Amino acid sequence: MASGKQAAGERYLVTGGAGFIGSSFVRALRRRHPRASVTVLDKLTYAGNPANLSEFEGTPGYAFVRGDICDAAVVERLFAGGFDWVLNFAAETHVDRSIGDPGQFVMTDMYGVYTLLEAARRHPVRRFVQISTDEVYGEVLGDPAGEEAPLLPRNPYAASKAGGDRLAYSYFATYGLPVVITRCCNNYGPYQYPEKLIPLFATNAIAGERLPVYGSGRNRRDWIHVDDHCSALLALLEAPGVEGQVFNVGADNEKDVLEIAALVLGALEKPATLVAHVVDRPGHDRRYAVDWGRLREATGWRPAVPFEEGIRATVRWYQEHEDWWRPLKSGEFLEFYKRNYKFLDARPEPGEGPAT
Ligand SMILES: NC(=O)c1ccc[n+]([C@@H]2O[C@H](COP(=O)([O-])OP(=O)(O)OC[C@H]3O[C@@H](n4cnc5c(N)ncnc54)[C@H](O)[C@@H]3O)[C@@H](O)[C@H]2O)c1
Repeated sequence: MASGKQAAGERYLVTGGAGFIGSSFVRALRRRHPRASVTVLDKLTYAGNPANLSEFEGTPGYAFVRGDICDAAVVERLFAGGFDWVLNFAAETHVDRSIGDPGQFVMTDMYGVYTLLEAARRHPVRRFVQISTDEVYGEVLGDPAGEEAPLLPRNPYAASKAGGDRLAYSYFATYGLPVVITRCCNNYGPYQYPEKLIPLFATNAIAGERLPVYGSGRNRRDWIHVDDHCSALLALLEAPGVEGQVFNVGADNEKDVLEIAALVLGALEKPATLVAHVVDRPGHDRRYAVDWGRLREATGWRPAVPFEEGIRATVRWYQEHEDWWRPLKSGEFLEFYKRNYKFLDARPEPGEGPAT
């Protein structure tokens, strides 16, 4: 049985570390293992932001490499230096963008995983964690999905992630690579790119702009604070004998979009009239829900952040970090926003004046 025990000086590769969850994970890792060496490999797409990691620049044991996980030469050079632990967060992650333009999702979320797995086959690692998603199950209308539930992804993001997820498993089954796969529910917290639901709602509400709600607003997700997702990953790194297994990560915090909107508006003392319905997303999954008992049994992990407290703290973070998100909500973001959301009434678009 392989041990997950970690020692000082061990080497971690965190791909996609300049994104939302990856950067939170680097913070959690440095707290837990201050003497570990951490290499971040990130392409810095629109979603990757060096500011998310600025506190680590120039600190001992930390290295940032700008590069693409699909680039075999870059990946090979890094792996040749040796890693103990690899966590692949790098991905195209926004469902709406995958509907408009699926190609890059297939590349990064499938081919990029292949490139990393191949390098890990040539340069053995102690564990390779593929960060998958609960969206691979497709919409779940009955009991929460266990890890053995069928994978029925219904949008190009979820389907590409399912490809990467199963490819990672195949490298365990075929080559004995020490792969672990996680499927987490929706994350929220600081440093999340403002196209995603909670930072979009928080930053729009702070700016006095409308909160675009798809269709009825009754689509449900389980929400986890990013710190809890990261503590689950750290617990899994330390768990013995988990290679070849899949672990759902959930928080039992199912909320629909209208409930989220109300919580965000309440935290900011903004009026409910800011909620604005928009034409629904095509193939919009009504609900995701996972059973995460396997993770609890293997590690004893439990989420620690109560949802309403987590939301209030998150909204406060966006209030206090306008310098972080204001520059992101310009240029290409606004073009995407206008393309993506078809408002069902005639109030002004963002950038065209405050909503009434
Ligand atoms: N956000 C969620 O709610 C959630 C839930 C479950 C699973 N996940 C998974 O967690 C991981 C991280 O998600 P996130 O929300 O932090 O995403 P994010 O979009 O904030 O960050 C993704 C990061 O990956 C980088 N990246 C993209 N393509 C790359 C490539 N080809 N090579 C190298 N780097 C590349 C980006 O520059 C960015 O820094 C993803 O794999 C995602 O599928 C996310």
